[in-house]
Amino acid sequence: MNATRIVGIAAFALILAGHASAAELADAPPGALSCSGCHSTAPAVDTAVPRLIGRNSADIVAAMQAFKTGRVPSTVMERIAKGFSEDEVKAIAAWYGAQKD
Ligand code: HEC
Repeated sequence: MNATRIVGIAAFALILAGHASAAELADAPPGALSCSGCHSTAPAVDTAVPRLIGRNSADIVAAMQAFKTGRVPSTVMERIAKGFSEDEVKAIAAWYGAQKD
């Protein structure tokens, strides 16, 4: 793989991640970037799925717990929430909470 290709892939990853900086992406805890496929990080994207960027991290943790137990009905989040441990969810929530909207 040559350098141009590596730069191209890095640029594409940044575009996918919206306006998160390279440093923020490098700090992303395991699993965090899997959420952004549905929960857009780009303000310009019109989406029905609520954004996680800049949200109170305790609220994200509470919502994930509610989805996991089925207390809050969901289409996809129950399955997704079940795939993450409490510590993983806390790290993901803290990362999203620290991003600027
Ligand atoms: C396949 C798309 C998809 C992925 C991937 C996804 N979500 Fe969701 N998320 C949704 C949808 C759709 C909802 C609305 C509830 C539902 O129907 O499941 C939602 C709702 C939420 C909510 C509640 C937001 C609110 O304001 O009510 C939180 C918090 C959340 N997701 C966190 C996450 C986290 C953290 C991840 C990554 C680990 C993630 N989601 C990955 C689609 C997704």
